[in-house]
Amino acid sequence: MRIAATNADLRIIMLSNQAADGKRSSLHGHWSSRMAFVLAVTGSAVGLGNIWKFPYIAGQNGGGAFVLVYLACVVVIGMPVMMSEILIGRRGRRNPVATMELLGKEEGSSARWRWLGAMGVVAGILILSYYSVIAGWTLAYVVKSASGVFVGASPDAVNWQFSNFVGDWRLIGLCHTVFMGLAVFVVARGVERGLEQAVRFMVPALLVLILVLLGYSINSGFFGEGVSFMFTPDFEKLTWNSVLAALGQAFFTLSIGMGAIMAYGAYLPEETSITGASAAVVMADTSIAILAGLAIFPLVFANNLDPADGPGLVFQTLPLAFGQMPGGVFFSTIFFVLLAFAAWTSAIGLMEPAVAWIVERYNKTRAQATIMTGLTIWLLGIGSVLSFNVLAEFKFLAGTIFDNVDYLTSNIMLPLGGLLIVLFAGWVMCRNSTSDELGSSGVLFKTWRVLARFVAPIGILLVLINAVL
Ligand code: PHE
Repeated sequence: MRIAATNADLRIIMLSNQAADGKRSSLHGHWSSRMAFVLAVTGSAVGLGNIWKFPYIAGQNGGGAFVLVYLACVVVIGMPVMMSEILIGRRGRRNPVATMELLGKEEGSSARWRWLGAMGVVAGILILSYYSVIAGWTLAYVVKSASGVFVGASPDAVNWQFSNFVGDWRLIGLCHTVFMGLAVFVVARGVERGLEQAVRFMVPALLVLILVLLGYSINSGFFGEGVSFMFTPDFEKLTWNSVLAALGQAFFTLSIGMGAIMAYGAYLPEETSITGASAAVVMADTSIAILAGLAIFPLVFANNLDPADGPGLVFQTLPLAFGQMPGGVFFSTIFFVLLAFAAWTSAIGLMEPAVAWIVERYNKTRAQATIMTGLTIWLLGIGSVLSFNVLAEFKFLAGTIFDNVDYLTSNIMLPLGGLLIVLFAGWVMCRNSTSDELGSSGVLFKTWRVLARFVAPIGILLVLINAVL
């Protein structure tokens, strides 16, 4: 895909945004193929959400019942929201703010739908502010792994490594800075071939390493405990708040509800099947999360750790396992490199709505827009850096600054964004516009429509109302 364009280029393309045949094209170029799109969306979806967040959130919410609700949310809410987001993006072919404004008017509703796009821009910025901090940890863990500190380490030693590390705000601040630098670098240059290639290699490689870990877990003697923790539902433990956490996790892990997928959809060629692409992404993303959980929980029980330990869970269990394995230094280093890559390709999705918006709205170059966005996010990220040390005891509402930004974005902004997106696609857009994009009027289309009009909105509303009020 060609995304970088000079100012002069942009103005010329902008004039021709509405082609003679009435079809719009994007100012930022198009994906080179269907595969390129699926890879980019998979790259955005597969990230820290699957490997870092899913296990610790599942652990904090009691396992089994949470996992079941999460899976249900992915299928009946996540899938229709993703399809709606792609179809809106492709129809508008602009940044999420401009697309919502354009389609709002075109479908006879209101230009005020632009605020939905704006909420996505803000959500992306907020999410990346803490995401980058955790991604920075993975960078440091590449170095730690390679240095061999985890070889034969005891649970206490690994734990000490972690708390010592996050306790040092300068160090994790530096890692956050390096990661934001990497993200700005790629987004500013434009998401070209290099990135498609990276995802093509990264996702399968990550999968292989998770399978290696899984093999180790199966032999740990505690595999049964891990499986039953993940799949034996105890609905008594399930509160409305954990249901909301499951819904929020479904949105977070699929990258939906904030316009990232809408922005990617804007670069999607006309003839690609939205349903097929969505199904492929949802399946890849969900399998990676489940496999990561299956690899991690047995290790938690084998080492007497607490599944509800929080954000440090993966950074404590995995180094322990690698430390016991033959070739552990090698595997561990590669694993954290891949995790950093996975976070990198997700960070790009988080920035894209803001960057595309600034380029189109303020006529800036892509590089200028990316640097402005990156600096804002970096600054906001300081709050999360300090949440693990200096300001660890400064708690309000959901907890530390990090906890609050996470709660606000995953549990409120993404579900609310998703709700408005399905309502827009299901009720505001006319039937023909959507069937035009989804390319059929058969059973698949009808199922999507029922999910988007009724099931998903009612589901999201029920959870939001019960958990928040
Ligand atoms: N889905 C990504 C992950 O699981 C996070 C993300 C959310 C990326 C929203 C882009 C948009 O890590």
